[in-house]
Amino acid sequence: MLRTSLTFILLTIIFSSQKPKKNGVKDLFKESFYIGVAVNGQQVSGKEAGALPLIEEHFNSLSPENGLKWSLVHPKPEVYSFDFGDAYVALGEKMDAFTIGHCLVWHQQVPNWVFENESGEPLDKDKLLARMEDHIQTVAGRYKGKIDGWDVVNEVFNEDGTFRESKWYQIAGKDFIKNAFRKAYEVDPAAELYYNDYNVWKASKRAGILKLAKEMKAEGIRVDAIGMQGHYTLGGPSLDEIEKGIIEIAEAGFKVVITELDVDVLPRPNNSEGADLNINFANSPEYNPFVNGISPEAEAKLAQRYADLFQLFQKHKDKITRVTLWGLHDGKSWLNNFPVRGRTNYPLLFDRDLKLKEDVFAKLKVVSKQ
Ligand code: GLA
Repeated sequence: MLRTSLTFILLTIIFSSQKPKKNGVKDLFKESFYIGVAVNGQQVSGKEAGALPLIEEHFNSLSPENGLKWSLVHPKPEVYSFDFGDAYVALGEKMDAFTIGHCLVWHQQVPNWVFENESGEPLDKDKLLARMEDHIQTVAGRYKGKIDGWDVVNEVFNEDGTFRESKWYQIAGKDFIKNAFRKAYEVDPAAELYYNDYNVWKASKRAGILKLAKEMKAEGIRVDAIGMQGHYTLGGPSLDEIEKGIIEIAEAGFKVVITELDVDVLPRPNNSEGADLNINFANSPEYNPFVNGISPEAEAKLAQRYADLFQLFQKHKDKITRVTLWGLHDGKSWLNNFPVRGRTNYPLLFDRDLKLKEDVFAKLKVVSKQ
């Protein structure tokens, strides 16, 4: 008798541990949108202890944090490095996740040689466009059918809605953007194609983005969604400003994807906003107040901020197809080094010990039922 019940208990334990868990963040919002996470090489390969099971339990979409950016995937003219990308898409397939490619064309994390000929002089427009298209062919072509959506072009607008004077723009004008989308569509017509940027909540910046996106649409160039990166702070932008952004993008005929969500809890010098990687300030105790742990006040504000943001996203679930967190846990967030290097930040859903922040999760549970 005792033996039978022991066997029964043992079998129950084994059986239930094999059943897919249904209580992740993704499950809260499964009727609304994908819940994604940006992952790095250590996580994809399973080398970071404890990370992979959390990724699988809580997320149904993946973004590559750095590994598919030009300087990593194509560091030299004849050298492509697909180790990360191959492992990444394999994980996406294993998880049956909505797998994102990020990003084909950007002014950051792109080597200088891209814009130069063999003598180091600036490339002319046609050659630059040909080089860009070749890159898109090779990278998006390799992952055709495996990547479900591409951030085709990243961050080409200034805050006032004018074009950023990047090397791309200086050499090729706005044609590089159009050609990038055309080429990405040609290479993998089944993949969704996104324009992605920070501070899309700003009316002036958004006006530039939507003008171009509509122009492309009118020319028959496919753009499926506008990525609002979502690098927010505890205090800003306001929900109202974000909501206006979501509504306007939808009214212009595009889906909204929240592509890089995190909430900076630390003070920002000069109230700097967004994710302009050129901005970096010196570290000081004033800007690094939570070295030994976040204060209860800031922790409560963080939970409330996440609840408010997800409530807004829920309200607009007919317009939003995905919400992606920019990193799995606080220990690995880029916000430990931006806009001030070497700080201790707390912007994500999991803490440094890879524990889900229970107060955030409890609030998300409530919001998800609304
Ligand atoms: C931008 C990029 C991301 C990432 C963040 C900061 O938002 O789109 O790929 O580099 O900056 O890490």
